[in-house]
Amino acid sequence: MPEIAYVNGRILPFAEATVSINDRGFCFGDAVYEVITAYNGRLFLFDAHLERLRRSLNEIRLEYIDVADVGEQIQKTYESALMPKAMVYLQISRGVAPRSHAFPAERPEPTVIITVREFPHKEAELAARGVGCITVPDIRWARVDIKTTNLLPNVLAKQQAVEAGCYEAIFIGADERVLEGTSSNIFVVKNDTLFTHPTNHKILPGITRRFLIGLAEKAGIAVREEWVTREGLYAADEVILSGTTTEVTPVLRIDDRQIGSGRPGPVTQKLYELFLEAIRS
Ligand code: PDD
Repeated sequence: MPEIAYVNGRILPFAEATVSINDRGFCFGDAVYEVITAYNGRLFLFDAHLERLRRSLNEIRLEYIDVADVGEQIQKTYESALMPKAMVYLQISRGVAPRSHAFPAERPEPTVIITVREFPHKEAELAARGVGCITVPDIRWARVDIKTTNLLPNVLAKQQAVEAGCYEAIFIGADERVLEGTSSNIFVVKNDTLFTHPTNHKILPGITRRFLIGLAEKAGIAVREEWVTREGLYAADEVILSGTTTEVTPVLRIDDRQIGSGRPGPVTQKLYELFLEAIRS
């Protein structure tokens, strides 16, 4: 099925979908986004994504946008693509106005973009095989809990990971705390307990992260929303990346050090199985 795009109410082939060079998302990164996956013809954890979108919009003072309506547009656009397994991208910018930092005096129509694309299969293979990561200093702004399109530090760090032959770069805070990946959250397993950074302004409150915490708790796996240090990360029994496209991905090497046994561990496997069950049902 063809990949399709939605721009401000119109569904178009990808090649015809464009926005103005004066779009504030393009000029300033004055925009928020969501990435949602669909499995078996259904948008997965859709309500949670819309809730986070609501929060992101409020935080950047786009509270006047009707999220229920955006949700309907996403659903319609997804359905028109006829793609049972898909990756849906939503971006909402403050709109189009001559470039000037402050909000335009007259409120422009926000630019709403939705794309429906094939789910990257490469990522699913990685989930089964396991990946390597590097650690990098966190040079991002102080509100990474808002899902904005300001992703240059993430882009540069991810490129550094790719050039090191790795899948992901893990941001480490000035106090050596392990934060999250460039497009994923991170879990550390130590002595059968799952550790992950608490949700505050230092990480994105990942939808998959929250979902996995629920799955783990139901399965009787202890979860502690506490951060670990880089040394704690190296000494972990298992390390797991979570994210909408990353799903549940075992990390087997970090900065050229082997993690645990060097193979996906039992907690990772259990969580992966529970996750697969959830997306099938
Ligand atoms: N990224 N942390 C960061 C910095 C992210 O960009 C993402 C998601 C996550 C995981 O969140 P979730 O489980 O809600 O996908 C954590 C998306 C997939 C992206 O930018 O493509």
